[in-house]
Amino acid sequence: MSNFLFESDEEFKFFMGDTLSYHNMQNMVSKLVSFVKPEYMLEFGSGSGATSIRLAKENPHTSIVAVDLREKMVGIGADKSSKNRIKNVTFVHGDLTKLDNFNLKNANLILMMYSFRYIQDPVENKLNFLENLYKHMQKGAYLIIGDTFIDNDASKQTIRKQLEDRYYNNSKDIYWANLKGLSKEEVQEALTIQSKHRETTKEQIELGVNRDGIYYVSREWLFDVAPKIGFEIVLGERLNSLSDTIFVLKK
Ligand SMILES: C[S@@+](CC[C@H](N)C(=O)[O-])C[C@H]1O[C@@H](n2cnc3c(N)ncnc32)[C@H](O)[C@@H]1O
Repeated sequence: MSNFLFESDEEFKFFMGDTLSYHNMQNMVSKLVSFVKPEYMLEFGSGSGATSIRLAKENPHTSIVAVDLREKMVGIGADKSSKNRIKNVTFVHGDLTKLDNFNLKNANLILMMYSFRYIQDPVENKLNFLENLYKHMQKGAYLIIGDTFIDNDASKQTIRKQLEDRYYNNSKDIYWANLKGLSKEEVQEALTIQSKHRETTKEQIELGVNRDGIYYVSREWLFDVAPKIGFEIVLGERLNSLSDTIFVLKK
């Protein structure tokens, strides 16, 4: 995978974990999961486990399997959960596109938070994935997709503008999150962190615009295909001006 992805927990916090959009998305997911109260759920593309660990703490009766393609991230998640003595989450190394490898028929909920974008082009791969997932899911189970969506039929220029707004706003959040006091040194440190963040995110913008490693789709696309597959759209709500959207689909 040629895309930008954080390689450690510190990096994750630095580039994504401290952003308002990430917190808002995670808070929304947390509310939805506590509402559904799944006995068993999967998170596909769990990264270093920030969301699965939070959900495991908040829902002690839910058993969670957190899946990621990168072994290193699986290891970080497993270490964190064992250090915190959290027993109801298991970190598993696996590929979310190989659905036969997972116990989906017993899952009440499947979560994809900022991971749907990694199902590679052509876009039919995303369609096949959703169709296949639908087949494997039990009736009544939920699929939650929280991700960034691009505008329908947008030009490269429009997409670049949209992603720039998104990432530069995130870099502002990182600045404020790191502004712990008002001493000169601390302000300087926060500025340094923000400018590093801006630099790195330029790379992410190009990947998204050129569809090289990050493959965004439009909200309209998902609104169109989900019911054709058979899903009921319970929720399709844009969360912010940055185009982060949360979909709740039910079989
Ligand atoms: C932005 S991170 C997700 C963060 C995480 N969901 C959270 O809430 O903190 C996306 C993750 O998806 C994983 N990923 C990408 N393609 C995958 C695949 N085919 N199977 C499993 N994981 C995948 C990446 O390794 C990465 O850790």
